[in-house]
Amino acid sequence: MSNPQQTLSIIKPDAVERNLTDEIKAIFVKNNLMIKEDKKIQISKEEAAEFYKVHQSKPFYDDLCAYLSSGPIVVMILEGENAVLHNRNLMGATDPKKADENTIRKLYGISIDKNSVHGSDSVENAKKEINFFFKS
Ligand code: CDP
Ligand code: MG
Repeated sequence: MSNPQQTLSIIKPDAVERNLTDEIKAIFVKNNLMIKEDKKIQISKEEAAEFYKVHQSKPFYDDLCAYLSSGPIVVMILEGENAVLHNRNLMGATDPKKADENTIRKLYGISIDKNSVHGSDSVENAKKEINFFFKS
């Protein structure tokens, strides 16, 4: 591997609730992203607010934090070649309506807020987000 990376992936409440966890995990594995760690948890609204702190000035922040804490989620460390960007490409655009064919959000996303998955957007944020959920 010339550029091995780890990234954080979250299967959001809308997808966990629809029993899509195994299908989404299979997409990662099929596309050479190894699932190094995974756990199903439910977080508090306060923890969601901390996790999404970069968005605190956005109009959707409060709803976003309420949503991420509204039900069980699956958090995973994915590892592979260029894992951060590779995962973002597999996820597709934030708005499922704008996502490319066969991306996770196109296949499973319901709306811009219930878009089934989260993925770190940079190597630096991946480290912070992995540490947030998997403190060593
Ligand atoms: O998740 P992604 O990195 O693609 O998008 P973001 O811009 O970092 O936004 C974080 C999350 O906020 C999105 O995944 C959406 O669930 C939510 N969001 C929203 O509800 N309404 C928007 N207009 C934009 C984002
Ligand atoms: Mg983001």
